[in-house]
Amino acid sequence: MTKKVALAYSGGLDTSVAVRWMHEEWGVEVHCVAVDVGQGAGDGAGNDTLVERAMAAGAAGCIVIDARREMAEEFCAPALVANARYEGKYPLVSALSRPVIVRHLVAEARRVGAEAVAHGCTAKGNDQVRFDVGTRTLAPDLEVLAPARVWQMTRADAVAYAAKWSIPIEATAEKIYSIDENLFGRAIECGEIEDPWATPPEEPYTLTKLTEPDDATFTVGFEAGRPVSLDGTALDLQSLLAAVSRLTGARGFGRLDMVENRRVGIKSREVYECPGALALIAAHQDLEDLTLERDVHHEKARLESRWSELVYDGMWFSPLKSAFDAFFAETQRFVTGEVRLRVSAPGALRVEGRRSPVALYDHGLATYDAADTFRHADAEGFVRLWGLGVQTWAARQARAAERPAPPA
Ligand code: ARG
Repeated sequence: MTKKVALAYSGGLDTSVAVRWMHEEWGVEVHCVAVDVGQGAGDGAGNDTLVERAMAAGAAGCIVIDARREMAEEFCAPALVANARYEGKYPLVSALSRPVIVRHLVAEARRVGAEAVAHGCTAKGNDQVRFDVGTRTLAPDLEVLAPARVWQMTRADAVAYAAKWSIPIEATAEKIYSIDENLFGRAIECGEIEDPWATPPEEPYTLTKLTEPDDATFTVGFEAGRPVSLDGTALDLQSLLAAVSRLTGARGFGRLDMVENRRVGIKSREVYECPGALALIAAHQDLEDLTLERDVHHEKARLESRWSELVYDGMWFSPLKSAFDAFFAETQRFVTGEVRLRVSAPGALRVEGRRSPVALYDHGLATYDAADTFRHADAEGFVRLWGLGVQTWAARQARAAERPAPPA
């Protein structure tokens, strides 16, 4: 019986070539799985075109799955709760979509009775790590095939291969950038960006083109750590992300330019535009300042960077990541309230106000005016004991300094 393989299919050049190549070289039957995680218009291919293309490339079948809601609720929401910023900057855009795709890939492999899954990632990136490790944690028995890791074709070779097999791909021979997009933003690599000294070109940006010169203020409502409304109107997370992205992106907010450490040991210069994600993380973080107890807050902040590393490194389905999620969920019970933000062109965002029915901010304790409720008399003793250890140490040091040096 012919071996069956479920392939994560994007409709682009590489995965289309992968369909034919795996069939020709490995003699396998390829079942394509196209997962919509909010990649927008992509290269203009609608669902029908995508399926036609897969079939033209030689697929035995192709299913298209709308996973945008799932992506928002089960992947973007935990990232917001975790204030996820890999290396303090990158909100994990691509790293969040891969486990969503893996989940559907494994499900399709089971449905068609495939022994293997496949993806179109190259040997140099993080995405192969996320596909391979994600699959192995969800389905340890499935084999993972990565044709682009072994076929040694350049982009021009792949274009020629597609032409030879009459695979209908739009003219992509001189495509400069590699772009990955989903609900959380866009990741842009290649071309002149590969020179870390070069100013990023304006051309590949779409979400952060400056079109609105005037300031805008808006209020995001949170319930138990999750953003649930914009200016008082309840919205699901997918719509909320889109709306905040438009509002802030139109004022040029949300660009990142960084040199990052890939899991495979390569430093890479990449640029991102993630206006919605970065604005919501800023708002969420600010509300935590108001509502989290100090020790919980500090401990959570320490774990956030570990969470981001795990997800970046393809460990979405790992037990440590799940344990962190359980801890974070416990911390979010009272992260409820509103944050008011102002975005000003070009690209400045700041929080202007925050409020919560369960705020730990206590005006009576904080104020310097007549409404003061703080017990001033408690301070002196507390502070004396707080400093007692170092005071004792300092006194001993002073005395030791006065003592003559012991004879040599
Ligand atoms: N460097 C980022 C990451 O590893 C973005 C990867 C984008 N992927 C792509 N195929 N362009 O998450």
